[in-house]
Amino acid sequence: MYILAFESSCDETSAAVVEAVDGALHVRSDIIASQVEIHRLYGGVVPEIASRAHIEAIYRITEQALQQADIRIGQVGLVAVTSHPGLIGALLVAVNFAKSLAARHNLPLVAVDHIKGHIGANYLDRPEGGAAPSGTFLALVVSGGHTALYRAQSPTKMTMVGTTRDDAIGEAFDKIGRLIGLPYPAGAQFDALAQEGFAMACDRENPTFAQYRKSAAYRDPHMALPSPALPGDAPDFSFSGLKTAAMNLLHRYEQTGQPLSRPLFAARFTYEAVDAVAKQTDAAIRRYAPGTLLVAGGVAANSHLRRRLCEVCEAREVRLLIPPPCLCGDNAAMIGAQGYYEYQAGHLADSHLNACAADEAL
Ligand code: KG4
Ligand code: ZN
Repeated sequence: MYILAFESSCDETSAAVVEAVDGALHVRSDIIASQVEIHRLYGGVVPEIASRAHIEAIYRITEQALQQADIRIGQVGLVAVTSHPGLIGALLVAVNFAKSLAARHNLPLVAVDHIKGHIGANYLDRPEGGAAPSGTFLALVVSGGHTALYRAQSPTKMTMVGTTRDDAIGEAFDKIGRLIGLPYPAGAQFDALAQEGFAMACDRENPTFAQYRKSAAYRDPHMALPSPALPGDAPDFSFSGLKTAAMNLLHRYEQTGQPLSRPLFAARFTYEAVDAVAKQTDAAIRRYAPGTLLVAGGVAANSHLRRRLCEVCEAREVRLLIPPPCLCGDNAAMIGAQGYYEYQAGHLADSHLNACAADEAL
């Protein structure tokens, strides 16, 4: 079965064709029209501009997605679309487009939760065949809007077991990145700068976090930052304290005229953010003893987080699934993957489907 999927919750318009064959899910096309260049001017996403850009792009990218997959609309068996959470005006574009397409071609329609969609990126093109892991699993979602851990009974049924009390990790990277002169969204460049910083601090390529912790750079009191891991039972986070401390640190450097090493600062900030996520994930693994950990969201592309989570999962003998970096950010193929499971579970939508800005209970 071919699934035609749509995503327009933020600043990427995407259409994809996912093929389900014998329980495995394959990406046949995944077209993404990014609006990053437009929003960069303003240092963040401007909702009205995003909605307009989605309208302008959606028809063209749908044609491209079908063309690249080498199929006609008549061969599509299911339409999937992100219905929540996100920017309401942006979400409405793909929801209405998908609804009219499904009605015109008499196709079943499924609504997909954007967060579950991110997790669904892990079900695509699995080398060992199959799609979602069978049985319960743990999922870590790290994106521009979310930082949360979920315990899943199945791809469609999951419960949040920990979350950030304030900012998301991606938002923290973007905001602090902006203060050190990185263009929006800062995540990928922050990652590269931190890589340089870790190598400088340890005088070697790709040092481990343990090696970095022993370095003189880590002990430098001028670079001290607090950990965003929160004490208590729930594996929760708070990134606003880390963000404020980083802003104060940068102000201090500015006021005293001391030269700031941007790579060493990026390394320190990344260390604290990633270490907290890894520690809380480790706590959740100990508590729930899952066979598999799935990681998802734009920040799952972070090379330091990927390495650190490999260490955690190896030590706990837990299987780790992380999508390739090209499927970590917003894209429609992941919506198609999740849409397949919503369809299997009988969660069909109809012409009354509406978009919703807020998170709904997973
Ligand atoms: O999942 P996503 O595309 O959108 C949301 O649903 O929020 O995530 C976007 C976020 C941005 O904050 C971006 O800076 C961050 O993911 N990001 C990264 C990296 N690549 C993207 N953060 C850290 N390291 C990266 N390599
Ligand atoms: Zn997203």
